[in-house]
Amino acid sequence: MCHRLQGKNALITGGSRGIGLAIAIEYAREGAGIGLLSKSRDRLDRAARKVGGEAAGAEVVTACADITDRAQVESAVGQLIEELGHVDILVTSAGIASLGAIGEMPPDEWESMVKVNLLGTYYATRAVWPHMRARGGGSIIVISSGSGRRAHGNWSAYCASKSGVMGLADALAKEGRPYGIRCNVICPGPTDTDQRRVNFPGEDRSELLRPEDIAKAAVFFASDESRWVSGPGIDVRRHPI
Ligand SMILES: NC(=O)c1ccc[n+]([C@@H]2O[C@H](COP(=O)([O-])OP(=O)(O)OC[C@H]3O[C@@H](n4cnc5c(N)ncnc54)[C@H](OP(=O)(O)O)[C@@H]3O)[C@@H](O)[C@H]2O)c1
Repeated sequence: MCHRLQGKNALITGGSRGIGLAIAIEYAREGAGIGLLSKSRDRLDRAARKVGGEAAGAEVVTACADITDRAQVESAVGQLIEELGHVDILVTSAGIASLGAIGEMPPDEWESMVKVNLLGTYYATRAVWPHMRARGGGSIIVISSGSGRRAHGNWSAYCASKSGVMGLADALAKEGRPYGIRCNVICPGPTDTDQRRVNFPGEDRSELLRPEDIAKAAVFFASDESRWVSGPGIDVRRHPI
């Protein structure tokens, strides 16, 4: 069987749950070594066992960091690169979402969404960038959202943060070209994860994407099949909007 990511290593922020964990499992099945980064130690340990169980023999290392703390992110990324030896792929999936009218959502909550979703993506990409440059290339995959392309009322913080990461990724795609660093964005539609369940309790989950659907696209962007693909992004969604 051909493993499309054999010999590559991937760092995945938000790898403890949901879309990030599904990507970690799919990458490990394709032969990649995995570095998981997220906030909760318990969930990271559980995720590492799950990846190991789904892909026997996979190398999985973990590091705890609050993605909103640049020093913690730099230290965790440095630790993961050292343990894996090198890194070829970065997926930024750490994210939070909540809805609320602009005048009603507490400013701290609004700012947290921008800190986790936008600044967290910046901190992780900035931490990996010199390593990828020194190695002569890499693939960065930013998980944005359909809400990064088309805004919805009562989602201003989330939409602002998710369109922000699209601008960041577009700039990095251009900046990375001379160094062989690609940067692509995946904009998932509604996907059956904790984040979705908390915001839309009681909805019919059979209508949602599965995290594995996003993971399949993420394999393409990580693999050499997409070696000439770098730019603003693709939608993964079941229903048109
Ligand atoms: N689900 C959807 O419908 C949907 C649709 C479009 C886009 N997205 C995007 O997809 C990405 C993954 O979402 P998901 O649905 O998989 O969410 P999820 O299941 O709630 O997982 C969120 C992940 O982000 C991590 N995280 C959150 N805050 C963090 C922080 N301060 N520091 C470090 N890690 C942090 C969590 O780590 P802990 O486990 O340690 O808390 C967890 O690994 C997000 O960027 C989300 O906005 C989701």
